[in-house]
Amino acid sequence: MSVHKDIKRVTTHVLQEMKFRGEKISMLTGYDFSMAKIIDNAGIDIILVGDSASNVMAGHETTRPITLDQMIYHASSVIRAISRCLVVVDLPFGTDQGNSKEALSSAIRIMKESGAHAVKLEGGDEILESIKRILSAGIPVMGHLGLTPQSIYKFGTYTVRAKEKEEAAKLISDAKLLESAGCFAIVLEKIPAKLAEKVAKEVKIPVIGIGAGNGVDGQVLVMHDMLGITHEFSPRFLRRYANLYDEIKLAVENYIADVKSLDFPNKKEQY
Ligand code: KIV
Repeated sequence: MSVHKDIKRVTTHVLQEMKFRGEKISMLTGYDFSMAKIIDNAGIDIILVGDSASNVMAGHETTRPITLDQMIYHASSVIRAISRCLVVVDLPFGTDQGNSKEALSSAIRIMKESGAHAVKLEGGDEILESIKRILSAGIPVMGHLGLTPQSIYKFGTYTVRAKEKEEAAKLISDAKLLESAGCFAIVLEKIPAKLAEKVAKEVKIPVIGIGAGNGVDGQVLVMHDMLGITHEFSPRFLRRYANLYDEIKLAVENYIADVKSLDFPNKKEQY
C-alpha cells in the first residue's frame, strides 16, 4: 500500500479519497516547530494540534485549562514547520460549548492567526449548532466522539466509552449527524473496536481512531506517548515506537558527567 508520499499537499479531499481507496490515514499530535518538521518530513497525513498540549506541554492534569491564545501559539509554530500534511487544531474547552457565535469567532481566530487548515470539536448533537456555524464560514470541521477529555468531570473516569447499548446508539446517531452537518472526518476515542468499525462502515467520511481498533479509516496517537517521552501513561491501546524518556535522560546524564569531569568541551570543540 502506498505511503501517499507522492501527494504534495494533504487536503480534506485527499483524505476522502484515501477512505474510498481503503488507504489508512496516519495522524499524530504535534505542538511545536521542531517536532512538527520531523513528523511532516516522515510523511504523516495529519498533525493534530491537540488540546493534549495542556497535559504534555504544560503539565496540567486535564485538557481543560489550555487557552485559545495558547492553542494559536502552538498551531502557528506547527504551521511554520510543515509543507505537506493537513493541520487540524482543537477548539479548547470553553470556546464552543453553549455559544455558537463564540465558537465561530474562536475558530476564525485559529484559522486567521495560525494559518491552520481545520478545527476539531468534541461532542455530538449538543454542539451541532456551533459546528454548523463554523462550517457556514467555510472552515473544515473534524468531529470527536466517544471519550471526549474536555468532559472528563462529567464522565468521572477515562475508561472505555459506549460499551452500553444506549450510549453506543447515541454515538452512531451523533456520527451521522456530524456527517450530514458537513464534518470532513471524525475522531473516535476509546470505544469498542466493533462499534468503531460499524461507524466507519456507516458514514462516508473518514473515521480516525484512538483506542478504537483497526476497523476504522486511520489512527491517531499523542506524539509524546508513542515516542515514549511520557512513561507513566500506559493505556492498552498505546504502542510505543521509541523510548525517548530513557534516551534523553541518558544523554543528559552523559552531558552532566562530561561537564563535571572537564571532558566537554575538548580542544576540537573550542575556538
Ligand atoms: O488532544 C488530543 O490529543 C486529541 C487526541 C487524543 C485525538 O484530541
